[in-house]
Order: sequence, then C-alpha cells, then structure tokens
Amino acid sequence: MDYKSTLEKKGTVVINQQDSPLSLKEWSDLENMYDSLEYEQAKYGDTEEKASLKFFRVKKPSDRKIHSEEAYSILNSDKVRSFFKNKLNIPLEHELDRCQMHLFNKGDFVSKHIDSESCKDYEYSVSFVVNDQYEGGEFLVYGPKGMESHKEPSRSILVTRSTIPHEVKPVVKGQRKTAVCFFKNTN
Ligand SMILES: [Fe+2]
Repeated sequence: MDYKSTLEKKGTVVINQQDSPLSLKEWSDLENMYDSLEYEQAKYGDTEEKASLKFFRVKKPSDRKIHSEEAYSILNSDKVRSFFKNKLNIPLEHELDRCQMHLFNKGDFVSKHIDSESCKDYEYSVSFVVNDQYEGGEFLVYGPKGMESHKEPSRSILVTRSTIPHEVKPVVKGQRKTAVCFFKNTN
C-alpha cells in the first residue's frame, strides 16, 4: 500500500528513512540544534494532557514569528511541502501553525490526547524522528484499526491525522528527540 492510502485507511503512516525528503545533512543539522536550544519544561501539553518533556517552540500557534529560522527552513521547506503534497495529499495551502522540537529525558512521557482538541482545524500532525538512541518512548496511536506501537528508526517521519488519539510512553534510557509540526486546514 502506498503512503497516501495507508494514511487514509489507518490515519497514520511512517515515511521510511530512504524515502525521507530531508538530506542527511539536514537531519544532522536538526540533531545538532538540540545542544543549543533554550527549552521550556512542559507539565501539560496544549490539550491539557499530562506530559513531562522539554520543548522549544520554533513557531507558536497563530503567531507568524519564527524562533529558529534554521529549524523552520528544514522542516517547512518547499521540498518537504511538495513531498507531503505528492506522497500524502497534504495540500500546499495547509498552514504549518505550530512547530516544536521535543526532548524527552529518562522518565519523560506524554499521556493520551488528541491534537485537534487544541485547534479543531488541525488536520495532520507530523513527527520527524531525529534520533533513535533511547529505550522506551514508544509512540502509541489508537487508529480505526486498533492500537499500534511505533518505535521508528532515526530519519523516518511519522504522520498522523490530528484527530487520532496517541501518547508517548516514558523514556527508560537515553534521550528521545523529535521535531513536531501541526498542519492546519485554512479553508
Ligand atoms: Fe500530540
């Protein structure tokens, strides 16, 4: 099944490393940024779910200001957006409303929640898997076909419909790094 129909049928799809629209340099630039970001500490997510993680907001919701041009230009490049359009049918008009870099240390987690509860116009939530040097930290999605547990290799990309419940299990060892983008239907 191709990426497009998998996303349609299951509400979630994994873009493999080898198909990723990001170059190796872009992936490693993203990972290197984690050393110098000024993080906020989350106790609750944007939908009031319980959470423990550090995060850096590249772009806040409904705010045009970009807090890291370097990250934003990699995550929302024309190349990435055409890839999402061609392979996943995410319209180019969809606005990247919220973009953040997540850092989970040992014990960090996000409890089960639905992204579209923070903004009803969110249609797709995209996680760029920056590294895989950790244990635990599985990404659980509760799609129409049941629960799926994802522990994807670095440089893959997980795309879910924003209406799909999901959670991140506690990290047991190492650090889990993901860059997360929320696309809004502006029609
Ligand atoms: Fe989420």
